[in-house]
Amino acid sequence: MSNDRLVTPRGSGVEEEVLDQTLRPRILSEYIGQEQVKKNLGIFMGAARKRQDVVEHVLLYGPPGLGKTTLANIIAHEMGVGIKTTSGPVIERAGDLAAILTNLNAGDVLFIDEIHRLNRVAEEYLYPAMEDFRLDIVTGKGPAARTFRIDLPKFTVIGATTRIGLLTSALRDRFGVVYHLNFYSPEDCAQIVRRSARILDISIDSEAAAEIGKRSRGTARVANRLLKRVRDFAEVEHDGHVSQAIARQALDDLLVDDLGLDDIDRRILEAIMEKYDGGPVGLETLAATIAQEPDTLEDVYEPFLMQIGFLTRTPRGRTVTRAAYAHLGRKAPAAMQEKMEL
Ligand code: ADE
Repeated sequence: MSNDRLVTPRGSGVEEEVLDQTLRPRILSEYIGQEQVKKNLGIFMGAARKRQDVVEHVLLYGPPGLGKTTLANIIAHEMGVGIKTTSGPVIERAGDLAAILTNLNAGDVLFIDEIHRLNRVAEEYLYPAMEDFRLDIVTGKGPAARTFRIDLPKFTVIGATTRIGLLTSALRDRFGVVYHLNFYSPEDCAQIVRRSARILDISIDSEAAAEIGKRSRGTARVANRLLKRVRDFAEVEHDGHVSQAIARQALDDLLVDDLGLDDIDRRILEAIMEKYDGGPVGLETLAATIAQEPDTLEDVYEPFLMQIGFLTRTPRGRTVTRAAYAHLGRKAPAAMQEKMEL
């Protein structure tokens, strides 16, 4: 059975994707930020190497674009093993999972992105595979049902999710270690920008890298994306060198503000302010109001808005804070001001 639909051939996509591959750090020492995770992972891999064993299953969680896929690739690279990459929604049937598992080589990493979207049947098959490295295949139904056991080589599952809360505790418990990735500091983002600029041969002032870092919403992927857009601007409108003034102008033109909010962030905040008097408003209603998918709002936009203290999630829905009104140069409703002053 062909595995092409199930495992993603990395580095064979459109130009942007190929570019991303070149920017990804290959070893832990090149990976910027997430110091605690890096330290723990280093020890963890060192211990596995010493025992000449595979690394235990690892679960990585946190908002998108922080480097979960990058870390999985680094683990495989540093352990000198192969990596097969798939994702929860791609594995539709138990047979899909069986096809992937039976194609693994000893010690390989199986990276499962969006593991919270794995269906329950596939999940049940994954348990014995993770625990005892065996696959129990059931054929037939009722009295004719037969179970075949297939022994698998030892391997490491690296699961990634933006929603740890959606994982069953049974699945979560099968991971030896669970690491949470945090948003990067503006300084970390600036360092990522400087590193990427070096790789892409972009001439950039450190003040310009700091400006891009500050506006990258704590996200490595955004930092790299903004760097590329700023470079386009510098090449077309100037001589290619990125100064702070050029970076500022380009970012303003891209509608990325001082804190890194883009037009969708602002539409979210403004919708809550203008249409729901500051909230609370339910996720579905809010998503419909600004014509976005609820999942996208929840996974991509809300974590950062909460992190900077502009949005709160309450049992009755989403509410904006006084800081959000101040940032957008708006006056908070009187009721909110009173509440805050108490
Ligand atoms: N690209 C994506 N994440 C990165 C990181 N943490 N360090 C350097 N480059 C990156």
